[in-house]
Amino acid sequence: MLWCPDLITCRYGMCNIPGGRHRLPSARPVPTVFVVTADLFDATAMYDEDYLHFFASPDDGAAPTHGPVVGTAYTAASAIADIVWRLLDLRPGMSVLDLACGHGALANILASRGCAVTGLDSSAVFLDRARADATAMGVDVDYVQGDMRRLPGWTGRFDRLVNWTTAFGYFDDPTNRTVLAEMARVLRPGGLMAMDLDNLPRFLASYTPSRITATRRNGDMLVDRHHLDPLTGRFEVERTVLRDGHVRRLTFLKRLFGFPELRDWCTAAGFTTVSGYGEDAEPLTIHHHRMIVIAQVR
Ligand SMILES: C[S@@+](CC[C@H](N)C(=O)[O-])C[C@H]1O[C@@H](n2cnc3c(N)ncnc32)[C@H](O)[C@@H]1O
Repeated sequence: MLWCPDLITCRYGMCNIPGGRHRLPSARPVPTVFVVTADLFDATAMYDEDYLHFFASPDDGAAPTHGPVVGTAYTAASAIADIVWRLLDLRPGMSVLDLACGHGALANILASRGCAVTGLDSSAVFLDRARADATAMGVDVDYVQGDMRRLPGWTGRFDRLVNWTTAFGYFDDPTNRTVLAEMARVLRPGGLMAMDLDNLPRFLASYTPSRITATRRNGDMLVDRHHLDPLTGRFEVERTVLRDGHVRRLTFLKRLFGFPELRDWCTAAGFTTVSGYGEDAEPLTIHHHRMIVIAQVR
């Protein structure tokens, strides 16, 4: 069997090689385009039992960390609940979605204050802990495993939505915007949302290439190396987990936002009257560690 060598003149067997295998136009190699929408990091590896060991264990096992404060600036979950209560004008009986609720610290307290709380998170480990703590507190929260990019059919269901401790900005920008649109979708018209994120000016002022992020008195620690990409606005972290003599590495990232950019994203996603506060619930300044964005859906 001969291959016709001429891709240009060979037209459906009309070239001069009788009985040859003709390369029809449709047989030409066609470039394959894969549309990859892979996650930018493995959230299952990041939000696991090790995370709870360092960030949700009793304080008596913690030792001081070294480096800038980039984590939470709140003293306790009850203090967060006080701020959320005030900024979201919460009242008992309101339906609240805690989106990316983690291990349920805030959701359980809001439920204890009389709200009808749903907590959604992708981490089964965190949700198990949230349910156990809810039972211990004697509160009822509807904990749902899910993905913030595709929320269930909850259109217009919630009076209020909270998204706390930099639980936004894990994806590429179109997908991050989709998450905002999902937030707007599940709120009733006039409903309010509160997001708690790093305050960019303060965050940048305290930037270091690495730091010890958390330690325990037995020597366990989290050591982070940082990379800030000005082209994407992403803060990328290579984390080394040292626990019980074992070493594990993982990576994660978060998108950083200045208030005007996030305000414009919120507006495009269907929110209006977007305002910014610090961790003391006062109007945002460069001195605050945290940026709380309050937005009302149209
Ligand atoms: C920094 S933690 C904050 C948790 C909680 N809001 C708090 O204040 O403790 C981020 C949370 O986002 C969750 N998460 C990450 N990707 C998610 C996704 N695609 N859908 C839902 N939750 C996600 C993680 O499991 C984790 O609980």
